[in-house]
Amino acid sequence: MSQQPLIQIKDIGRKYVIGAETIHALKSVTLEINKGEFVALMGPSGSGKSTLMNILGCLDTPTRGEYILNGINVSDMSDDELAEVRNKEIGFVFQTFNLLPRSTSLDNVALPLVYAGYSKKKRDEMAQQALESVGLGNRVDHKPNELSGGQRQRVAVARALINNPSIILADEPTGNLDTKTSIEIMGLMEEIHSHGNTIILVTHEEDIAQHAHRIVRMRDGLIEDDYPNKDIKSVSPRLAALREKGTDFENI
Ligand SMILES: Nc1ncnc2c1ncn2[C@@H]1O[C@H](COP(=O)(O)OP(=O)(O)OP(=O)(O)O)[C@@H](O)[C@H]1O
Ligand SMILES: [Mg+2]
Repeated sequence: MSQQPLIQIKDIGRKYVIGAETIHALKSVTLEINKGEFVALMGPSGSGKSTLMNILGCLDTPTRGEYILNGINVSDMSDDELAEVRNKEIGFVFQTFNLLPRSTSLDNVALPLVYAGYSKKKRDEMAQQALESVGLGNRVDHKPNELSGGQRQRVAVARALINNPSIILADEPTGNLDTKTSIEIMGLMEEIHSHGNTIILVTHEEDIAQHAHRIVRMRDGLIEDDYPNKDIKSVSPRLAALREKGTDFENI
């Protein structure tokens, strides 16, 4: 396997010009993330976390600097090219779930597959399986307003996973959930990570960040701190037991 980082951003800047005012949402951010990492991105409101996530997810482009994703320089790509990279490489989970309100769980999860060109039958099969993998095999025909908050987020996670992306970007995925449901979602994130996925998760909550293996702190558009989490909290007893035994997580 190549040793090249999955994500390499070099001196990235993002400014917004509104009338006479220029806002430097990101001043200069340099970061490398390897395949299989589980990173929590923290920092005060307005520090640039979502701006950085949008760039990492190819939803936005920096005004300065370089972004190399999986060895490909995506900094200067057109919107169409970015959309293609996004579909292949990235799964998003948002605080507000972002599900289509009139569509069933199955249709919400199957949606990204439409762009990938699968037949309807194949899409439904894959979506059914993805919903089963997040424990919602019995909720495929429910619409978002017929599900609990945690179940909605599970649907969003299944949708994020459906294209088998290399990276899961989650911006405050537990921000609208109570403590118990947040822990369930973090258990799901841990399972996904244990299958080799790379996860980058924004959170305000120290408790939630403790599930990650690396913590990056931002302030005023800069990275203030970046360190391995020495005290990883695990909700999955199976994963905790494996960690006790020193199992290499990338290979299970
Ligand atoms: N589209 C935009 N136009 C102008 N300014 C913006 C835009 N998006 C973000 N900003 C500004 O950029 C800065 C960083 O915003 P960002 O959304 O990245 O913060 P954040 O760290 O995600 O905050 P929060 O924790 O509140 O979600 C803020 O000062 C914000 O006002
Ligand atoms: Mg934000």
